[in-house]
Amino acid sequence: MLEKTFAIIKPDAVAAKNAGKIIDRIEAEGFTIKAMKKIHMTKAIAERFYFVHRERPFYNDLTNFMSSGPCIVMCLEKEDAIKGWRALMGATNPDAAEADTLRKLYGKNIDNNAVHGSDAPETAAEEVAFFFTGIELM
Ligand code: CMP
Repeated sequence: MLEKTFAIIKPDAVAAKNAGKIIDRIEAEGFTIKAMKKIHMTKAIAERFYFVHRERPFYNDLTNFMSSGPCIVMCLEKEDAIKGWRALMGATNPDAAEADTLRKLYGKNIDNNAVHGSDAPETAAEEVAFFFTGIELM
């Protein structure tokens, strides 16, 4: 099923100038970039975006990191895009990520792990709508 997912190239990967390589790989793997922009989240926006994690011990570090510099947010489309993008990212912790995945190639540790992706259809729809308006997705 042709599906959309939401992706972020995180501040560590943007600062390290790995964004171009990651975007190349996204296209080489058959995803269509439906929408894309570079933004610098405020702490408050990062807190809203990651609200689901508000009780987790890493919430403060995570939202500080995500508001520490610009990132690139994207809506990606492909057959089974959610599963496919999660596979291309690899495990959350780069140490545990499979060879040649984006987190293995470009992530440093579980906090600075280069990329984010939605985990289910409901969160993909919410996350895309959080950052993009309807006209940006046409
Ligand atoms: P992400 O896919 O952006 O979703 C939440 C982020 O929290 C995750 O990637 C990690 O970068 C970060 N994080 C830090 N510690 C943990 C943890 N123990 N479990 C899951 N995510 C964590």
